Amino acid sequence: MIKPETGRAAQANNVATASPETISRAVALLREGQVIGLPTETVYGLAGDALQPAALARIFEVKQRPLFDPLILHLAEAEGAWALASRVPEVARRLAERFWPGPLTLILPKKEIVPDLATSGLPNVALRVPVHPVARELLRAFGGPLAAPSANRFGRISPTDAWAVWAELGDAVPLILDGGPCEVGLESTVLDLSGDAPVLLRAGGVPVEELEAVIGLIARARPVDEKPAGPGQLKHHYAPRKPLRLVDAVQPSDAACGWLVFGPQKSGQSLDGVVENLSPVGDFREAAANFFRALRRLDDDPRVAMIHAVPLPPKGLGLAINERLERAAH
Ligand code: TXA
Ligand code: MG
Repeated sequence: MIKPETGRAAQANNVATASPETISRAVALLREGQVIGLPTETVYGLAGDALQPAALARIFEVKQRPLFDPLILHLAEAEGAWALASRVPEVARRLAERFWPGPLTLILPKKEIVPDLATSGLPNVALRVPVHPVARELLRAFGGPLAAPSANRFGRISPTDAWAVWAELGDAVPLILDGGPCEVGLESTVLDLSGDAPVLLRAGGVPVEELEAVIGLIARARPVDEKPAGPGQLKHHYAPRKPLRLVDAVQPSDAACGWLVFGPQKSGQSLDGVVENLSPVGDFREAAANFFRALRRLDDDPRVAMIHAVPLPPKGLGLAINERLERAAH
């Protein structure tokens, strides 16, 4: 999304390009317990001081997120993450060595200093070291953990650029740091290492096959309907305002249908309606980077009344995109 030329967004004065000055301002706001929009390589986050319960409460309030859904704590370095965990298994260190900084979140037993509001009262804490240069610079300057869920209102499409954050939150935050479009485009992979065996809680930016290459087979958690057994397992999520339906293949449709497709399309088959191809050449990384942006465009396009999406081949980042499509359709 580029800066809108008209409407309320054209007047927005809380979106600022990341620079030494805006990062100092961000640090000052965070110390005061305020929350800000922050770029990461996965999606933009709504960041607050993880050790100030009032700042955490503000995150839940701005995001309109239920208190049973815990937050991810972001750190500049792995050492900072281990300092918040009461036990760090060998596999955690091996994974961090290979994938941090980057789009991987590890769940570990928490230390006392982590506020209950950050973990929704759970004994475990979610930890991640992001690789985006603006996130790293801010984390270094801040010098402590920042809690940051994706910067969308609860259940909605995650923002992958600063103006998408503005579209979600408007003036509810004093500052949105603009660090450009997110390179990964999908949230981090969430891996629970608090029990005897690792469990995948959310497919994401690091394909699970790559984790398995380092630590062996990983069990999958299944999403549930209303009362999540584990947090973040709600089936309905990432939802556009318009109805979204999953279909096996492209098919004749009326013009009010928007299509989300992937890969080369059969020649001679012209689709009616608006078409977003996540990657015409069939590249998973390109598709992931385009995913939320494309979904948002279809949701905002006045010509589109309903969205049809064709799932991707179920491997690598394709699995992570399909998981989000299924929840968006639910
Ligand atoms: O890429 C990302 O992870 C982004 C960026 C901003 O870092 N953040 C993000 O946060 O996606 P959020 O809050 O939208 O998703 C966090 C996920 C949720 O599904 C939450 O339930 C799960 O992590 N989670 C957090 N703490 C947990 C815990 N203690 N046990 C189990 N799951 C947890
Ligand atoms: Mg989210």
